[in-house]
Amino acid sequence: MASISHLQLISLLLLSLFNATLSSSSWSSDRDIEYNKWVSWNVENYRRKAALKGAESIVEMTSAGGRNVLDVKLRLAEINKVIVSVCQNGTGDFKTIREALNAIPLNNTSRVILMIKPGVYREKIIIPRALPFVTFLGDASDPPTITGNDTALTAGGDGRPLGTYHSATVAVNANYFVAANIKFENTASHEIGSIGEQGVALRISGTKAAFYNCSFYGAQDTLYDHKGMHYFKNCYVQGSVDFIFGYGRSLYENCYLNSTAEKVASLTAQKRTNASLSSGFSFKDGVVTGSGQIYLGRAWGDYSRVIFSFTFLDKLVLPQGWSDWGDQNRDYKVYYGEYKCSGPGANFTGRVPWARMLRDEEAKPFIGIHFVEGYSWLII
Ligand SMILES: *[C@@H]1O[C@H](CO)[C@@H](O)[C@H](O)[C@H]1NC(C)=O
Ligand SMILES: *[C@@H]1O[C@H](CO)[C@@H](O)[C@H](O)[C@H]1NC(C)=O
Ligand SMILES: *[C@@H]1O[C@H](CO)[C@@H](O)[C@H](O)[C@H]1NC(C)=O
Ligand SMILES: *[C@@H]1O[C@H](CO)[C@@H](O)[C@H](O)[C@H]1NC(C)=O
Ligand SMILES: *[C@@H]1O[C@H](CO)[C@@H](O)[C@H](O)[C@H]1NC(C)=O
Ligand SMILES: *[C@@H]1O[C@H](CO)[C@@H](O)[C@H](O)[C@H]1NC(C)=O
Ligand SMILES: *[C@@H]1O[C@H](CO)[C@@H](O)[C@H](O)[C@H]1NC(C)=O
Ligand SMILES: *[C@@H]1O[C@H](CO)[C@@H](O)[C@H](O)[C@H]1NC(C)=O
Repeated sequence: MASISHLQLISLLLLSLFNATLSSSSWSSDRDIEYNKWVSWNVENYRRKAALKGAESIVEMTSAGGRNVLDVKLRLAEINKVIVSVCQNGTGDFKTIREALNAIPLNNTSRVILMIKPGVYREKIIIPRALPFVTFLGDASDPPTITGNDTALTAGGDGRPLGTYHSATVAVNANYFVAANIKFENTASHEIGSIGEQGVALRISGTKAAFYNCSFYGAQDTLYDHKGMHYFKNCYVQGSVDFIFGYGRSLYENCYLNSTAEKVASLTAQKRTNASLSSGFSFKDGVVTGSGQIYLGRAWGDYSRVIFSFTFLDKLVLPQGWSDWGDQNRDYKVYYGEYKCSGPGANFTGRVPWARMLRDEEAKPFIGIHFVEGYSWLII
């Protein structure tokens, strides 16, 4: 095993993906076509990444004492993958997402891909820790919506308020979760000055999770990027207050962040609490726009860490840029960086003195999938 390079593993994996796709006769042709599209998109994506990285980083990848070698559990899970379909009109294997999840044995070791047909799924979903390797795959031309409207104040089963954590429409406690072409929604509204209206659309608490072409709609606290390493690509996130928050260590590539704030609010509330922790949010090649006036981030944790690079910052970004949430002790502990951003909101003149205009070598650790150790698990 030690002599197999990361690239060889990837090729093996992709080969087995192809073989599985081509040799299985039990799937309907409809599934074959959709799944082939998904696989070829993945292959293309991987090739592009490999080409971009060039020879230098491939050497780095394969010589790092195994640190960057593809996760073996993940590789096995992908080789033995299973596909089931969810369709509300009864033509799939399951009518609801929850039924499909309930059918997976706990501690299952293979990837289970839920091919979710178009429709609005009013379901509250919790994926327990013991259900790793689950994929939600929607149709890119008509993504399914998973919707709910719980807030922090909604009464739970025991009559007590749920709290922000349990307000999520979809909560993922498992590792190795993937979603593509899915709309996650929490329709609860947020009135300025009111409390308890946090309504999470998605909470991700498992590590090594990836989201492609997904959208997240909510108001206050839309996307709870709770903990673990996460990757978001081509995603849309909308909300009014702290709409991406938590102590995740996450790379957001090519994501569109839309504020619906009416007055002054913060886009992120990152909760790194200790200088030695690796958590932080890195936004690369994105867009920040919408209504109201926003800080790019406010310090939920003392060592809150957020970086925007190559991102278009619209005029709604306040000149100060960042907020210490009223605690000046945090000013020189937080790590708030900007690198090669553009647009009217990227003007550094009015920034708080503790905002960082990053130099090339300072930006480097944050602006690639290495920030989330993606080479070991981001196979797609
Ligand atoms: C059921 O839904 C699927 C997916 O949306 C659709 O392709 C199919 O035509 C529907 N079948 C019936 C009988 O409504
Ligand atoms: C994982 O769950 C799927 C779906 O229920 C099942 O088909 C598969 O056999 C399970 N894998 C293992 C290794 O048990
Ligand atoms: C699943 O794995 C966890 C952790 O190893 C273990 O505690 C739990 O008992 C397992 N559950 C089942 C149903 O096998
Ligand atoms: C939340 O959704 C449920 C189910 O559709 C509905 O009955 C309820 O009125 C909604 N609550 C709010 C506050 O919108
Ligand atoms: C993402 O969306 C784009 C544009 O709709 C589409 O071309 C692409 O295939 C989608 N990616 C996946 C993984 O479905
Ligand atoms: C962004 O939010 C604004 C409201 O603040 C809304 O008018 C606009 O349509 C949203 N943009 C997109 C692309 O949905
Ligand atoms: C930071 O967290 C690490 C790991 O939890 C711990 O060992 C260390 O003591 C913490 N440092 C401080 C200053 O709290
Ligand atoms: C940045 O803002 C300052 C102060 O408002 C202004 O004087 C300057 O022209 C702006 N720079 C650019 C490039 O717009």
